[in-house]
Amino acid sequence: MEIPAQDAAHMARAVELAGHGHGTTSPNPVVGCVVLDVEGRVAGEGFHAYAGGPHAEVVALAQAGERARGGTAYVTLEPCDHTGRTGPCSLALLAAGVARVVIAVPDPNPKAAGGAARLRAHGVSVTSGVLGAEAERVNEEWLTYARLGRSHVTWKFAATLDGRSAAEDGTSQWITSPEARADVHRLRAAADAIVAGIGTVLADDPHLTARPGPTNDPASLGRGSGAGVGRVAAGSETRPDGGVSVGDGIGNPAGNPGAGAGRGGAGGRRPLRVVVDTRGRTPQDARVLDDSAPTLVATAEDADTGLKADLLRLPRHGRGLDLEALLEELAAREVVSVFLEGGPTLAGEFLRRGLVDRVVAYLAPALLGSGRAALGAAGVGTIGEMHRLTFDEISPIGPDVRLIARPATQPVREQ
Ligand SMILES: NC(=O)c1ccc[n+]([C@@H]2O[C@H](COP(=O)([O-])OP(=O)(O)OC[C@H]3O[C@@H](n4cnc5c(N)ncnc54)[C@H](OP(=O)(O)O)[C@@H]3O)[C@@H](O)[C@H]2O)c1
Repeated sequence: MEIPAQDAAHMARAVELAGHGHGTTSPNPVVGCVVLDVEGRVAGEGFHAYAGGPHAEVVALAQAGERARGGTAYVTLEPCDHTGRTGPCSLALLAAGVARVVIAVPDPNPKAAGGAARLRAHGVSVTSGVLGAEAERVNEEWLTYARLGRSHVTWKFAATLDGRSAAEDGTSQWITSPEARADVHRLRAAADAIVAGIGTVLADDPHLTARPGPTNDPASLGRGSGAGVGRVAAGSETRPDGGVSVGDGIGNPAGNPGAGAGRGGAGGRRPLRVVVDTRGRTPQDARVLDDSAPTLVATAEDADTGLKADLLRLPRHGRGLDLEALLEELAAREVVSVFLEGGPTLAGEFLRRGLVDRVVAYLAPALLGSGRAALGAAGVGTIGEMHRLTFDEISPIGPDVRLIARPATQPVREQ
């Protein structure tokens, strides 16, 4: 489809605005909107900042006021057509007298879809699919959740340059720098849940809480306030913060004004902690069970455990619990995004099952030569079965490097 340059430019701005909602809109999508007046001048801009708050269209229309009449609205996601916590955006656009609506991505949620059809039925000109790939990327967590009925998974690991996450004697603290660890806390804070295996809980007794530092930390420069994983511009370039960008994402704007609002945001949020523990072996005094954040312990339906905790009973599958069932149960609890912190055994099973949507790797300029690999068995028997990824971003974080990658093929829902 040939896209007029003006449409592409205004939609690119709407996508940028949508990114301001990262980490704070869950369980809602991030959405951005730009409204032009009848002369084609920008009259209003908006984004959805937190669940229960006004939708992007409503914010932009309020800013535009009467100037919206006869104008054009650019929206990154099809305007909703249902009454949830707020009224339908399709009606708001009609009431404002907008003559044309340009949409990037249709709404996959059957409850909310229908906005484009209603607008067309009322004589509004509707164009769909403008900058669809960019708008998909900015909203990827929510679109995975809405389309696949499971939480979106970001697997994070820290390793030496030779891919090891512990020395031969099991010691692993610390491989990466304080700057890299601070960055992890910011990414944790933007997730709805932090997931770890019982092996990690028994070995390290982690808190699994988000303790982001000040947002002016050097590691956050140029990447917003840590809410969400930074996206990068098309092609390969050196960014002002020194990071080398590759891939076809979009810029995650700096200074996310939404962070800290609603259920989340760096600083105020307490993501759910989840331990994957088939037999219920989590020690009663484990730090992950303290009261600094809510915790779910996922155990087998038939596990005989006296553990006093919020238990999520799941069917068994393969070498442990059914991980698809885990992600579906979490989605049912409105967990849109999961930050998977391993360890290697659990991460390998997530990968084997096609349940890793994004990888964030922190690599330290160090070599071990022996010791635990960052990733355990992941269903690869021969080189042709290797899990191929593509890089989205390569950034220096203190003395380390952060790599963001994603599977080369997109996951699909099993029938
Ligand atoms: N460098 C890093 O980024 C990083 C991050 C995290 C951890 N670590 C290190 O990793 C080590 C622990 O890792 P680990 O591999 O031993 O343990 P793990 O991956 O944390 O946990 C594995 C355990 O999870 C349980 N489980 C339940 N369902 C499962 C399923 N479907 N698939 C796989 N496992 C399932 C199994 O125990 P049950 O059968 O008893 O349920 C399994 O043994 C620690 O030394 C820690 O320091 C490093």
